[in-house]
Amino acid sequence: PTLKSAFAGHFTVGAALGAPQFTGQDTAAAQLVAREYNTITPENVLKWGEVNPERGVYNWEAPDAYVQFGEDHNMFIVGHTLVWHSQLAEYVKEIKDPELLRAALKEHIDAVAGRYQGRIDGWDVVNEALNEDGTLRKSVFSDVLGEDFLTDAFKMAEEAAGPETELYYNDYNMWNADKRNGAIRIINKIRENGGRVDGVGMQGHYSLSGPSIDTIEQSIRAFADAGLKVMITELDVTVLPNPWDLVGAEVSQNFEGSPFMNPYPEGLPDSVQTALAVRYEDLFRLFLKHSDDITRVTLWGVNDGHSWLNGWPIRGRTNYPLLFDRQNGKKLAYERVMALK
Ligand code: XIL
Repeated sequence: PTLKSAFAGHFTVGAALGAPQFTGQDTAAAQLVAREYNTITPENVLKWGEVNPERGVYNWEAPDAYVQFGEDHNMFIVGHTLVWHSQLAEYVKEIKDPELLRAALKEHIDAVAGRYQGRIDGWDVVNEALNEDGTLRKSVFSDVLGEDFLTDAFKMAEEAAGPETELYYNDYNMWNADKRNGAIRIINKIRENGGRVDGVGMQGHYSLSGPSIDTIEQSIRAFADAGLKVMITELDVTVLPNPWDLVGAEVSQNFEGSPFMNPYPEGLPDSVQTALAVRYEDLFRLFLKHSDDITRVTLWGVNDGHSWLNGWPIRGRTNYPLLFDRQNGKKLAYERVMALK
């Protein structure tokens, strides 16, 4: 049994891939992906600043290889992401005129979503457009186009990607009731304006202690009640403290030598390994309970060595947030998740 076979009939299980995993540089991880997962998300190569860094300039090589990898292994292929304030091309940030920005948006979405029409199965059309209180986040898109950019993006994506492609709104901290309500509000508005939104991605960047299973569950229910497919899109569980929680923003610049900078450089103690396994077990138990509504669970990275959490929110730490260790071995968390089935 593998992750994809164990959860077949409930939801697909996937991972975010970096270029080495789909361009033949990291064949061990690629083999693991082919064995365990039936859906993939590109960690970076389809972000605006990567695929379309200058107006009219497109880097297709890596995204083409990504999509080919997914097709070779019969996977549900996700596109991430068409409209996001971060990792955005500089030229877009300089546009101040609404008509010009709308034109640039259309050009980008037509080119990228259009190229993979019929090959990419679902798109994160808009990523992280909300503040924690549920209001619209400040960005070039909201500054210049107001809330209408959301409807514009979904309509453009539908036109470019075609009627068969699923379209999603994706964000983090969606367990937070204010943010969740904000997401439902903007999705309803996009729908009232004639846009199609099929599902919502709850990025699962969690820690050992939070958010609670209960708050995650309330959001799964609320999104399902709003008529949305629910996806857990960027699952990882940090085992390291968030330095800002501990020391506050003022002293956040230099963590070198502090006790929480890198508490487990030589490996995870058994007690923490077990806590991670229990946390993953609790999460997957919840996902199984709601598998009528949850269509996909995607981990943000293949093995611990790949995880962005080794470098975020501060660089130079060693984190252990995934189901496979740095040698692609199955961790206790993997065994406990599999034991649920
Ligand atoms: C991260 C990638 O994992 C990193 O490699 C990159 O340097 C920054 O972005 N939310 C998202 C993802 O939607 O695209 C982010 O991915 C993690 C947070």
